[in-house]
Amino acid sequence: MKKYAIILAAGKGTRMKTELPKCAYPLLRKPMIAYIVENIHHTHIIDDIIVVVGHKAQVIKDILGDTVKYAFQEEQLGTGHAVMVAEPLVTDLDGASVILPGDMPLVDTATIEKAFQEHKDRRHDLTLVTTKVDDPTGYGRIVRNESGYLEEIVEHHEASYSQQTINEINTGIYIVDNHLLFAALKQINNNNLKKEYYLTDIIKICKESNHVIGTYFLKEAYRAMGVNDLYALSIAEARLRLNINRELMLRGVAMINPETITIGDNVQIEENVTIHPNTYITGNSVIKKGAQIGPNTEIHESKIGERVICRHSLVYNSIIHEDTTVGPFAHLRDGAEIGPKNRIGNFVEVKKSSTGFNTKASHLAYIGDATIGKNVNFGCGAITVNYDGKHKYQTIVGDDVFIGCNVNMIAPIEIEEGSLIAAGSTLTQNVPKNSLAIARAYQVNKENYIKLHRSKEKKENE
Ligand code: UD1
Ligand code: CA
Repeated sequence: MKKYAIILAAGKGTRMKTELPKCAYPLLRKPMIAYIVENIHHTHIIDDIIVVVGHKAQVIKDILGDTVKYAFQEEQLGTGHAVMVAEPLVTDLDGASVILPGDMPLVDTATIEKAFQEHKDRRHDLTLVTTKVDDPTGYGRIVRNESGYLEEIVEHHEASYSQQTINEINTGIYIVDNHLLFAALKQINNNNLKKEYYLTDIIKICKESNHVIGTYFLKEAYRAMGVNDLYALSIAEARLRLNINRELMLRGVAMINPETITIGDNVQIEENVTIHPNTYITGNSVIKKGAQIGPNTEIHESKIGERVICRHSLVYNSIIHEDTTVGPFAHLRDGAEIGPKNRIGNFVEVKKSSTGFNTKASHLAYIGDATIGKNVNFGCGAITVNYDGKHKYQTIVGDDVFIGCNVNMIAPIEIEEGSLIAAGSTLTQNVPKNSLAIARAYQVNKENYIKLHRSKEKKENE
């Protein structure tokens, strides 16, 4: 018997009042829908994940790729209709499905596993996950009979005044046996205020056909939060940030002013790391022991070695090896790989380049499309001239090269090991090893020029 997850992500997200489809919105720089899909993968009990897409479907598909199957809901006729379009992909009707809204980023693996367990242990045909919240505005309300059994879900805008005071709500997570699910869906209609096919109506239908229905109560209500607008998104993100930061601090990561620090949920940080204020570390980044990151630093999809110090800098898709210092105001990007014990200082940009051990570019340098050896010194203002307006070219610098200040290395070019480049040189040719290269005009001093010039000027004005 197969288990399916059906995630509803076809809606436009009208209440977001923006362009991006709602389920693609990021929290801590990761799309909402990716959290749900990852957490379902982590349960290891689901055989197939089906994502119902519709409005701007391609945006969702680009995020999830082939990790899931897709059902296409051409017109967004309601949550019930969205599940109906998934039917052809649910091939094992003897199995069960968990249905989740795609706008519920805080739901965790344990909730899904426990709800399934409850469904099985209690032999339900349908299990609805509910919770209690202080402010139930916008959620479907759980209506129970005198004995406390689930009767139906009433949507917020259809609820009577007394029903609106009910604070037990529909989380939007249902576990249903497949035969029952699709039979019940055939009976729902759109005779309601929104003229939509509500998935919530299956509760009443299952109840009336005497199926065994029950609820699983989620204690951590915040996990059920549905993100319908940008304010809710900020609340969900703040909660996620708090959880991640707390867990990291308990594992030995020091954070100064943690409310200003954003760490993505796929980031790995080892103990003895200190993170300073206004720092973002996102994507699949890894920060090794003893590193000090921030303040005011962004690190995305990058690996930072042991004891690295990285201040006031941007590091994207790059690797920094151990004992290196970066910043202030450095920018490493697109596959920069900085060797151990380097110094990448003020206003230095490194792009698609690698450096060896103990290399230094302390101030105002651009290193692009270059392979740099060990013990190299980049003087202040030294740059690789890698672009002629059409193509990019490579620069190779051997070990122990000393590059003076304000040197232009016009690529493609190779500077062999042990060479010294005089300050102010513009190099257009390769430099053989252990050479001194000078490529600049000789200095001319015109003695007494100023004095003579001034007396001439004076005479003219008289
Ligand atoms: C829904 C529930 C409500 C519950 C709440 C929990 C219904 C009718 N209401 O309300 O009881 O308390 O979630 O958060 O189910 N979607 C589609 N296709 C559609 C319509 C929606 O894929 O035609 C998707 C949306 O993209 C979204 C999810 O379904 O991810 C839920 O839709 P939404 O409009 O947010 O429902 P709510 O009004 O929040
Ligand atoms: Ca919602």
